[in-house]
Amino acid sequence: MINLDTIILAAGKGARMKSDLPKVLHCIGGKPLISHVLLAAQALEQQSGFHIVVGHGAQRLKQSLEQQAGINFVEQTQQLGTGHAVQQALPHLKNDSIALILYGDVPLIQPQTLKQLIDKVDHNTLALLTVNLQNPTGYGRIIRNAQGRVKSIVEQKDASTEELKIQEINTGIMAVNTSQLQRWLPQLSNDNTQAEYYLTDIIAMAVAEGVNIITHQPSEQWEVMGINNRQQQAQLERIYQYNCAQMLMEAGVSLLDPQRFDCRGQLRCGADVLIDINCIFEGENTIGNNVVIGSNCVIKNATIGDNTLIHANSIIENSTVKSGCTIGPFARLRPGSQLADGAKVGNFVETKKASIGKGSKINHLSYVGDAVLGENVNIGAGTITCNYDGVNKFQTSIGNDVFVGSNTALVAPVTIEDGATLGAGSTINKNVKQDTLALARSPQKTIPGWQKPTKKN
Ligand code: UD1
Ligand code: CA
Repeated sequence: MINLDTIILAAGKGARMKSDLPKVLHCIGGKPLISHVLLAAQALEQQSGFHIVVGHGAQRLKQSLEQQAGINFVEQTQQLGTGHAVQQALPHLKNDSIALILYGDVPLIQPQTLKQLIDKVDHNTLALLTVNLQNPTGYGRIIRNAQGRVKSIVEQKDASTEELKIQEINTGIMAVNTSQLQRWLPQLSNDNTQAEYYLTDIIAMAVAEGVNIITHQPSEQWEVMGINNRQQQAQLERIYQYNCAQMLMEAGVSLLDPQRFDCRGQLRCGADVLIDINCIFEGENTIGNNVVIGSNCVIKNATIGDNTLIHANSIIENSTVKSGCTIGPFARLRPGSQLADGAKVGNFVETKKASIGKGSKINHLSYVGDAVLGENVNIGAGTITCNYDGVNKFQTSIGNDVFVGSNTALVAPVTIEDGATLGAGSTINKNVKQDTLALARSPQKTIPGWQKPTKKN
């Protein structure tokens, strides 16, 4: 097995993002660019060291990745060019490794492409990832000799009019023997238009030594697209989302419009799931079989059981929903909501830290928080658990087969035992015994012959 050292260049400022956040911490699919690159590199089977060259925003970058074990941060205090950047990592590389050079702002590179590139390297071969672009402006051009062999790379700003016509460009991604990098990088000069140490100058050095330069092209152009501004970020976001959508559809999920689908995390779906337009899935979500999700739902860190129906415009976060439930439209399940089989949470209902028993229904306009509901409970419209006294939160406990009339306020802490009925409009602040009716509202008065007020002049 070969030794691999992955070097990710991420010291640049990313000035065109016009942001306080280091560029590589901006997100695609809810995940920082640099994390996408790391994941692609980590997916390779080879034994690898990971070196991230940091400069601008180094502190923030380190902080945000500190959870990830095994990353070596290499500081490049002045950004003197890509060659200089790689040079900073040199002392940390194994002498006999292959160095895989990646860019922190090229997020959609695929492990398969990297593997194919690395496979082309041997002791006398350097592998370069190139691509042919309709509009190659801005990129380094691949210069080939009459036999079609790569001779050198010329940067846009240093290229002649003839060279500028070349459409094959340097993606920046390459795989090189570390021992050769150790020899070539110290020889780089910054005698060019940008007064930078160009990594690309090692190509001509390699050719002069008789090293073969083999090029490889990715199967998709988006794999090597970099992000320099918000427009490019938005473009790659759509490509990333479209790819996620394609994978889900291949796995048997129906997306009514793959162009209007967003996944920012992991989404696992069972069979025959149907997802309507404009839904957003964040974090880790697991969806069972035969689940239907209406349009404009936002679902975050949730588990949804089989045969559940989620109507449009519902928001579910850190919650567990079992089988055969009905949610929404316009329901909000806040963290800690747990719906047992067949539970219903209808329109304009908010739940939080609430366990809703089997077959229980909260169909309209209610707030149920810090509460446990048994089975077959019916909560009337406008019911509120008054769980908060301004300082502390209190629990509401409701047994099985309880009927709560509309517009009831349950002043917690309060316990309603099995089979109880609460009259509509009650303010319940005392526990209610099993199978009793509790009414806590002022009796209706009737005043006959009532004179309606009249308008004064
Ligand atoms: C580079 C390549 C060019 C290629 C293009 C592809 C060189 C000299 N040129 O050009 O051939 O077509 O990428 O996008 O390599 N970085 C550092 N430290 C530095 C300079 C850069 O870490 O001192 C990092 C940047 O953060 C960025 C990457 O290296 O992630 C590329 O730098 P950038 O300045 O964008 O290179 P280009 O001029 O676009
Ligand atoms: Ca660039």
